[in-house]
Amino acid sequence: MEPFTRDATLVKHLPAHVGQTVELQGWVANRRDSKLRTFIVLRDGTGFVQCVVERDRVGEAAFALSRKLGLESSIYVRGKVVSDARQMGGVEVHVETLKAYQVVQDYPIAKKAHGVEFLMDRRHLWLRSRRQWAIMQIRNRAIQAIHRYFQRHDFVQADAPILTGNACEGTTTLFPTPFYDQTAYLTQSGQLYGEAMAMAFGRIYTFGPTFRAEKSKTRRHLSEFWMIEPEMAFFDLDMLMDFIEDFVRTVTLEVVEQSRMEMEILGRDPAPLRKVAEPFERLEYERAVRVLNGTERVNGMSAVEMWRQELDHTRAEIQSVQGRIAELEGLLKQPMKEKKRNYYQAELNQAKARLHTLEERRKNIPLWIESAENFRFGNDFGGADETVLTLLFDRPVMVYNWPRAIKAFYMKGVPGRPDLVKGVDLLAPEGYGEIVGGSERETDEQVLRQRIREENLPEEAFEWYLDLRRFGTVPHAGFGLGFERYVSWLAKLPHVREAIPFPRMYGRLFP
Ligand code: 4AD
Ligand code: MG
Repeated sequence: MEPFTRDATLVKHLPAHVGQTVELQGWVANRRDSKLRTFIVLRDGTGFVQCVVERDRVGEAAFALSRKLGLESSIYVRGKVVSDARQMGGVEVHVETLKAYQVVQDYPIAKKAHGVEFLMDRRHLWLRSRRQWAIMQIRNRAIQAIHRYFQRHDFVQADAPILTGNACEGTTTLFPTPFYDQTAYLTQSGQLYGEAMAMAFGRIYTFGPTFRAEKSKTRRHLSEFWMIEPEMAFFDLDMLMDFIEDFVRTVTLEVVEQSRMEMEILGRDPAPLRKVAEPFERLEYERAVRVLNGTERVNGMSAVEMWRQELDHTRAEIQSVQGRIAELEGLLKQPMKEKKRNYYQAELNQAKARLHTLEERRKNIPLWIESAENFRFGNDFGGADETVLTLLFDRPVMVYNWPRAIKAFYMKGVPGRPDLVKGVDLLAPEGYGEIVGGSERETDEQVLRQRIREENLPEEAFEWYLDLRRFGTVPHAGFGLGFERYVSWLAKLPHVREAIPFPRMYGRLFP
């Protein structure tokens, strides 16, 4: 344990140290042996670098040590930084000194493919993998870009409480918790407090954890997720839609440009993300109804035809994946080196998982067609309806002017249309669906009071909120960006659980 140093260089800074001797400390992410050399991929959290341990350079004892280092052994390395274009980051390190903090032999996450439940049970270790590292880098960049955006636009970050007395987004997803002799709820949204702070500070945003008891397992729902909620005084729905568009465009382009290496690790094609540079589609809910049920076509195509086309693509991909599975199963019957076998086995597992997804999709598309055909005013979108809208328009879509009956109590009515409210949802492409929900807020005390009664919410718990409409009420608007859904889209994740270090969701409280 003795080689701890204050002077270690971080892996991400190595390109600036070519030709110099540096100290590194970190963990063994990979090891490969040849006769005279051990190749260790060291990771320190800032990056990955290949360290070459050569018998002649380090001596017999250190060389023997290098051969014992299992995955996730913790090590100290001193060596020379050499540029090598083939390496990630363009450098490798020629080791002169190698020491171990701890030699590990049986790290439970092997390099072969594991099932998701196995990995989720070991989330505290899984986070060390290259893929999870790349996701968390993207998450971190998005956090930074979001703060920069708001700070540039004269917003004050103002935090809302987590323990609250009010429901904000309906009473069905509340998490109650004892609060001395009262019952509190974990906040579903900071919005109501955001409105109060906007009346105090003009433009504010919250960035904090929010909670919803969602007793279902979907790829888009967490029980604890982070939400970014700006609230702006003197704002209407049109200004809000302009703002959402500019915000999502700016932050997304910034993250994409800064995360090329991470996207490559994830196999995430950045091209669909770059399309945020083009104008988003703005679609009134009533038009969305017509587009979904086929009374209106988009670029000559109806929602049903789009699904039929998707069905053909799905069938074709199923055939090609089945072909590859047969091929791999054939290969695996033959004798081969363990390493090659693991490689094929991992690909086979992946292909089987993909086949499962595709077959589910093939089974579901007829149901989705039915859902689109029967879509009527007053229905809320399912995931498939959101998907087909972004497919048809081939860009992010903002749906606005929603039926009052399916939206929250605080949304302002559309003038002359008592059945509509000035809400807006932003739907992300590639099947990610709603990532933003926002609205212009009702400003009239009596109308709000009426809505609170209609929703059977406890009026006395909202008196403080109604004060905002008694003392200098002004037009105002805001939105909430579901951060894990956004990160999932950026990184093209199959499920939001990988977008947060320790996901909390139905059936998952550990680790
Ligand atoms: O659409 P929602 O419910 O809107 C609000 O909470 C408003 N009070 C926001 C506001 O106007 N200040 O939620 C906002 C976003 C959704 O668009 C979605 O991205 C995300 O939060 N979200 C979830 N993300 C993960 N897991 C869940 N269970 C989520 N529920 C909502
Ligand atoms: Mg919503």
